Amino acid sequence: MIQVLFLCLGNICRSPMAEAIFRHQVEQANLQHKIMVDSAGTASWHEGKKPHEGTQDILDKYNISYANMRARQIKEKDSQIFDYIIVMDDQNMVDLQELITDNYKSELYKLTDFVTSTQVDHVPDPYYTGDFNYTYELVSEGSKNLLNHIKNNHQIK
Ligand code: 4NP
Repeated sequence: MIQVLFLCLGNICRSPMAEAIFRHQVEQANLQHKIMVDSAGTASWHEGKKPHEGTQDILDKYNISYANMRARQIKEKDSQIFDYIIVMDDQNMVDLQELITDNYKSELYKLTDFVTSTQVDHVPDPYYTGDFNYTYELVSEGSKNLLNHIKNNHQIK
């Protein structure tokens, strides 16, 4: 099983959106038996909460399930479990690198590393911008290209 963790600050807006969209894409590709998806936040403030209403609304609009998803804080152990940790911005990466020790197994990326249609270096936080549509567009493109990257990397069809 290839395990993918999306990471943001609160785990209620961006990373749950990415988790739900990526899982949907994985299921559409019929790869759910090969790729497992989760998300977490660097902060603990929203532990146990459902995704933000704005994230729920956009996922509802595109008929993407977010059933049973609840916020949690990342733990150091996650870096020994997940093959990929995909962050939303540079601060997430700084916080992640402070948390993990030298012997982590995860490959670390920013989701925007996989966005090619526009020059963007982070996924803006709709908790502050209010623009869940733009976040959705970036996350969907990034996730789609991430899935292709993983398929190529692991020679999955
Ligand atoms: P997220 O957005 O990192 O995309 O989940 C945020 C959610 C909550 C807060 C900040 C960002 N907050 O300050 O509570």
